[in-house]
Amino acid sequence: MQSNSPTMIAPGATIGILGGGQLEKMTALAASHLGYRTCILCPEGDNPAALVSNNIIISHYDNKDNLSNFSNSSEVMTLCFENIDDAVVEALAKQGRIYPGAEIIRIAQHRLREKAYFREHGVQTADFYPVHSLAELETGVRSLPQGCGLLKSCRFGYDGKGQYKIDLGTDLAEIWAQAGFEEAVLEAWVPFKTEVSAIVARSTNGEMRAFPVAENTHREGILHTSRVPAQVPHAVAEQAQAITLQLAEALDVVGLLTVEFFALEDGTLLANEMAPRPHNSGHWTMDGCVTSQFEQLVRAICGLPLGAVEVTVPVTMENLLGEDVLHYATQLADPAVRLYIYGKQGLRPGRKTGHINRLHLSPRAE
Ligand SMILES: Nc1ncnc2c1ncn2[C@@H]1O[C@H](COP(=O)(O)OP(=O)(O)OP(=O)(O)O)[C@@H](O)[C@H]1O
Ligand SMILES: [Mg+2]
Repeated sequence: MQSNSPTMIAPGATIGILGGGQLEKMTALAASHLGYRTCILCPEGDNPAALVSNNIIISHYDNKDNLSNFSNSSEVMTLCFENIDDAVVEALAKQGRIYPGAEIIRIAQHRLREKAYFREHGVQTADFYPVHSLAELETGVRSLPQGCGLLKSCRFGYDGKGQYKIDLGTDLAEIWAQAGFEEAVLEAWVPFKTEVSAIVARSTNGEMRAFPVAENTHREGILHTSRVPAQVPHAVAEQAQAITLQLAEALDVVGLLTVEFFALEDGTLLANEMAPRPHNSGHWTMDGCVTSQFEQLVRAICGLPLGAVEVTVPVTMENLLGEDVLHYATQLADPAVRLYIYGKQGLRPGRKTGHINRLHLSPRAE
């Protein structure tokens, strides 16, 4: 197929996807829907994306020959996780186009760098203290309002893992020993009213578009629901989008950028963290938006026009954890539910194994 722009990668080309999880699976499906082929590279294990990709390279991320094979097979490459050695992304960038780039990954994979980046760009965050020792933890806790905070590992945290709640009575020496962190951040506890996230797309030609913000709830540190439209004042939603657009431009993102925010009672937004990729809180777009976040990612990295982001129907996305996916018959019996099962073999408790989008359909006029 002929491209009508020099930067456009035409349908028929192969998109390389590093990683084999559910985000990669849904990206591969969206790519296929637009006529692209996909090649994934992922380590041996439970890889849902392998179920739907055209070419699968099972390999560790540091195998140079396999990485070359991967980049040679792909016209453009992407990845949907930050917890990767940025040298791998840098090496791939020398061989082809890869989005997001190593510099963005370096910032987004490290909580202190990420918070520093927010602050440098005028984006407010919770108060935080770098912690490399028990002494620094003790000093930090003394500065916390009512001594309440969260100690988080700087790296490799997800779904609330690597986090310790700190209260007045907490035995700091015990927590520090138990955590075994080399580098951590102590964050003040934020008495937020709502959590929201904004996802924006930015294409190779600089076109940008912000999805409507989602309102998120968490259970035990894991995202439980994302609802659109978010029940927040219009100005708050607009500001979350504006900050995310500003950061996407500053970071020179190509693809998607998600920013998670705490919204305070007075409407103040504090940025919690960001991810340069599709996000769990954007799964509602698969059924409630003209364009899904996964299709938008494909459009952005291939230089296609970005899709419309209007809400087509209000939706509540709900994550399915562990064996929740075994209740598929009950879920499917609800005509307002759209069900996604990732196809993971391991259904460990707390593991994301699927999600549902509950459509808030308006009653049909007779
Ligand atoms: N400083 C804080 N004050 C109050 N609640 C917090 C704070 N930090 C985190 N939380 C709660 O814990 C959730 C998970 O925290 P965070 O996003 O930092 O961790 P994560 O492991 O990266 O999670 P995820 O992978 O779901 O994004 C937040 O969405 C929020 O509900
Ligand atoms: Mg988070």
